[in-house]
Amino acid sequence: MRIGVYPGSFDPATYGHLDIIRRASRLFDKLIVAAMINGEKKSAFTMEEKVDFLKRMTQDIPNVEVESFSGLLADYVREKKACAIVKGLRAVSDFEYEFQMALANKKLNPELDTVFLMTEQKYLFLSSTIVRDIARHGGDITELVPEEIREDIMNKLDQTN
Ligand code: PNS
Repeated sequence: MRIGVYPGSFDPATYGHLDIIRRASRLFDKLIVAAMINGEKKSAFTMEEKVDFLKRMTQDIPNVEVESFSGLLADYVREKKACAIVKGLRAVSDFEYEFQMALANKKLNPELDTVFLMTEQKYLFLSSTIVRDIARHGGDITELVPEEIREDIMNKLDQTN
């Protein structure tokens, strides 16, 4: 069984993430979406919320599992017996950081490969940071995040009412 791991902060997950999840789910027998605690970033959403959002928006994709994890990604992937990490790439600006992480993970676990999927053009501008910013100011996030989680995001972040 070929298992892939798609890690991220998912703070919150967006249509861009869902696009990568759908496409990666076709490349592996099982795809584990792993919401990770990223020490560099302060989260707006709790780990429970992130996992719940990801579960709700992927419930129609049978070979996707959602988990949370803290610690080293390379160790987690080994423990899950996965053969690859999946990451999405938007622009050249993502590349340097992602390349560095992929090399570090390979160093930690030489059998491990990172597979990059290019984002769909319509999601090029989209990021969790942008979603949070628009939501905080009461803007419309309809085209940015799946319907299943939209209201919960607005309820938590919208500071205009
Ligand atoms: O959504 P993000 O912020 O691009 O996700 C980054 C994430 C969580 C995948 C990355 O920070 C990570 O792998 N964290 C786990 C800790 C770890 O293994 N660090 C070394 C990676 S080089």
